Amino acid sequence: MPETLSITDNRTGKTYEVPIAEGAIRATDLKKITTGGEDQGLCTYDPAFMNTAACKSKITFIDGDKGILMYRGYPIEQLAEHSTYLETAYLILFGELPTKGQLDGWTHSIVMHTMVHENIKKFMEGFTYDAHPMGVFISTVGAMSTFYPDGKQIFNADSRQKQIHRLIAKTPTIAAYAYRHSIGRPYVYPDNDLSFTGNFLNMLFKMTEVKYQPNKALERALDVLFILHADHEQNCSTSAMRAIGSSNVDPFSALAGAAAALYGPLHGGANEAVLRMLKDIGSVDHIPAFIKKVKAGDGRLMGFGHRVYKSYDPRAKIIKRTAYEVFGVTGKNPLLDIALELERIALEDEYFVSRKLYPNVDFYSGLIYQAMGFPVEMFAVLFAIARTVGWVAQWEEMLLDPETKIARPKQLYEGATARDYVPMGGRSAY
Ligand code: ACO
Repeated sequence: MPETLSITDNRTGKTYEVPIAEGAIRATDLKKITTGGEDQGLCTYDPAFMNTAACKSKITFIDGDKGILMYRGYPIEQLAEHSTYLETAYLILFGELPTKGQLDGWTHSIVMHTMVHENIKKFMEGFTYDAHPMGVFISTVGAMSTFYPDGKQIFNADSRQKQIHRLIAKTPTIAAYAYRHSIGRPYVYPDNDLSFTGNFLNMLFKMTEVKYQPNKALERALDVLFILHADHEQNCSTSAMRAIGSSNVDPFSALAGAAAALYGPLHGGANEAVLRMLKDIGSVDHIPAFIKKVKAGDGRLMGFGHRVYKSYDPRAKIIKRTAYEVFGVTGKNPLLDIALELERIALEDEYFVSRKLYPNVDFYSGLIYQAMGFPVEMFAVLFAIARTVGWVAQWEEMLLDPETKIARPKQLYEGATARDYVPMGGRSAY
């Protein structure tokens, strides 16, 4: 069977052969389909990249119809069951699970970089007391490029590794400082005897005790949540990371841009929106009226639907289980009953079923975070910490890909044709 596509251009009657590789044609091959003259050739129009592969990647595989998510070929369910966030981070970055020695070395490299420069602390103190921690996080990660100018050496493998260590290690510290700042408590320095998530809980919640001891069940639950959020192929924020990085800027600046993309309520801000929605609904009795409103196009059922998953998001299944483990320690989140009933009704309702709208990763994660004591403003920040490894792995893959060029989509221009400048006196109000 020839791996080609024959295209007949009915405008000219000409037929073209376009090669197919890995189930795709190259958009640039369409340029040769032209009517002649000034016609620059055919292009595809694909707002929001609904059906356009922008890169080749070996990191994460998703089959949205079957509800499959794998990092480097390992199913997410097995990683959530057996792995840790740092081990999964190693897998995502280097492609293989580490040996004991490799994991020890990797863990040491991360632990060695958890502290931030004292001036970063001072810089963060400049934010107002009610600054949203995600805004603080984005700005501070961006500011890191001024503290680590060697981050500009993006084609030096050792330097890249160093920046990757810094980013994975310091984002929890920055996030914790942003949180402590928002509640007016002194920042807590990292405790490198603790695990990655144990130390993060320490920097968030330590009070006057000499040594903070994280609750083991909560530490593990957070680790699982971080594993589930570590990468998700070419989503909005990762595409931003790759696009910004393709200009060869340093990874701190690129990651600030990726985190900004994550901040939006349709992406990483969704679990914050879910909690607000559950609070607004208020009680199980109000659910039918709420569903009616959503179906009439007045608002969305937050935490439902996904661009890729057209069946149950595999991460949502694991998170639902984790929720019960956390509630075993913290007591049940009172909003859980509303969430469960909302899910039950939506999964039976023709509107949601026909549009293949299922709970996504964010439907339950907010309930867990809230039960663990995080304010809603911190939810997207938690997501950003976990996703940092995905962003830097995708960034490095992009840099090392010989096909990479600066990202620059085309447009279909629909504006005014050429016209002469009109002096002020000759203009009328429009
Ligand atoms: N509630 C109600 N209706 C919805 C929802 C929803 N959550 N999501 C999609 N729809 C409807 C749309 O109105 C549309 O209906 P129509 O065909 O009658 O016009 C149809 O389903 C398709 O929706 P699109 O917006 O075209 O789907 P898209 O793939 O562009 O959007 C998205 C995906 C952004 C995730 C969307 O489902 C949504 O807004 N969900 C709520 C926000 C959310 O939970 N985001 C988190 C995503 S996961 C993550 O980022 C980690």
